[in-house]
Amino acid sequence: MAEPHKDEYEVQMDMLELIWGEGFMAPGGEGNVHRIVDGLDLSGKTVLEIGSGLGGGALVLARKYGARVLGMDVEEGLVERARRYAAKTGVADLVEFRLVKPGPFEVDEASVDVVYASGVLIHLEDKPKTLTEVYRVLKPGGVLAGYDWLKSPGPLSDDMLEWIRIEGLTFYMDTLENYAAMLTDAGFERVETTDASDWYNREAAEEYARMRGPLYEDMTRILGPEQRDHFLADWRQGQVVLGKGELRSGYFRGYKPADAF
Ligand SMILES: C[S@@+](CC[C@H](N)C(=O)[O-])C[C@H]1O[C@@H](n2cnc3c(N)ncnc32)[C@H](O)[C@@H]1O
Repeated sequence: MAEPHKDEYEVQMDMLELIWGEGFMAPGGEGNVHRIVDGLDLSGKTVLEIGSGLGGGALVLARKYGARVLGMDVEEGLVERARRYAAKTGVADLVEFRLVKPGPFEVDEASVDVVYASGVLIHLEDKPKTLTEVYRVLKPGGVLAGYDWLKSPGPLSDDMLEWIRIEGLTFYMDTLENYAAMLTDAGFERVETTDASDWYNREAAEEYARMRGPLYEDMTRILGPEQRDHFLADWRQGQVVLGKGELRSGYFRGYKPADAF
């Protein structure tokens, strides 16, 4: 049964594009898309992106890797903007953005070569159930490749709870170690994870400096003073939890066995 969903990115999307570039809602913008799929041959492959947001990732996979991409997201405003970017980019024939409800994917079993998930599993409470869906739709030998915001082991500190409160997004944060365990439990093999916390710490510090410097005027003009200050507080608190090593980030990958049925 579909879980209820409340749109959360309506205000966020303009800010995220200011920092990470048009179409991007995750650290590193386009550069991180390349890191997520590093070494994978995507030419002519079918990619399903869960949580495609404003479409930047899907468009890079189509434009630069020659993949056919189905992007699914639960927020209409994001999907509409992603469709506009696809038309503008000239790869509309390779990319479809679909508005979906949370829950099981309306995608055929064993029909996609790659599932791409950037910054979306954090939003999903029942990750094992989602990973079972990912496994179901992948062809044998297919791969899940993703990136996420993560946490250190142990309960969330008050600082972390404060950062999540300011973010105003629904997060179900977990550790990179648990991501690996959940992939293995779902049946994936050759499961690999890479901690990207050091990289992300540097990125976030730079983002915060840009927000207080060159981006400040654009933030004021596009978001207004209240939202500008909100996001400054958000990134300031981010620095606290990053500095403590509690807010982390990383990559994960796993293959559906080639002899799976
Ligand atoms: C941090 S954004 C990342 C967007 C994009 N993947 C990127 O890297 O730019 C997370 C996205 O996940 C979407 N999302 C949240 N819950 C979802 C669900 N149950 N199914 C699909 N997408 C979901 C949000 O609407 C949002 O677009």
